[in-house]
Amino acid sequence: MDFVCAGNWKMHKGPSEAAAYIKALREMAQPEELARLVIFPPAVCAAAVAEGVAGTEIRWGGQNIFPAPSGAATGENSPAVFKDMGAKLALVGHSERRHIFGEPDEALAKKVQFLQSIGTTPVLCVGETLDDRRWNRTAEVILRQAKIGLTAADPTKPVWIAYEPVWAIGTGEVATPLQVEEAHSILRSFLLEWSSAASAVTPILYGGSVKADNVSSLAGLNNVNGFLIGGASLDAKELLNILRLSRDARGGKI
Ligand code: PGA
Repeated sequence: MDFVCAGNWKMHKGPSEAAAYIKALREMAQPEELARLVIFPPAVCAAAVAEGVAGTEIRWGGQNIFPAPSGAATGENSPAVFKDMGAKLALVGHSERRHIFGEPDEALAKKVQFLQSIGTTPVLCVGETLDDRRWNRTAEVILRQAKIGLTAADPTKPVWIAYEPVWAIGTGEVATPLQVEEAHSILRSFLLEWSSAASAVTPILYGGSVKADNVSSLAGLNNVNGFLIGGASLDAKELLNILRLSRDARGGKI
């Protein structure tokens, strides 16, 4: 399974900053590194990113979609339009969508299903809150989120999983290697049960305060197939640095 470093810009950057970022990334990265990079820009930057990555293997995707090609859904983004613009992926159930916007598991399952049906890869994000962890509910919570999120999913079509403990997102507090390995192993066992063929090709990314300073202790862990990076991905050089340090930590294999 190829290793990926995905940058989630959240609600940062506008079109001109986005274009400058992609230009810098293209200038700095080796061709084989480009295929390991994914960008999730805000929708207002999608056109700038799509134009910037054209002709390269850098992939990009939407941060949020509504599960329909078009319609009465004020303020939402059409995954069909993103796809038309070249998006290959879309985030589903990022913790900020779950907790700020109250998106429930059942609604996320529809997004996963719809994305797969149009040939876009959903990146289903799961993760426990600090309270869940304190009360020993981590396994229960991430399994429930994965299970419901994938209820209508097709195991013969691509899907990615991102494990992002809520308490580690944007807080500077990164999960320990043991915590990451445990959660990823729980998710891997679930995927194996869901479909062993799908599990063999489904990456599980870790996200939560990943940066150049801590990535080396995480990149080589079992079942860590990449990272979903927020704050640190806002700088193109830092994103590339994270990819390179991951490669080193994995003995050159990405
Ligand atoms: P962070 O965000 O790297 O800033 O913690 C990760 C994410 O929200 O995907």
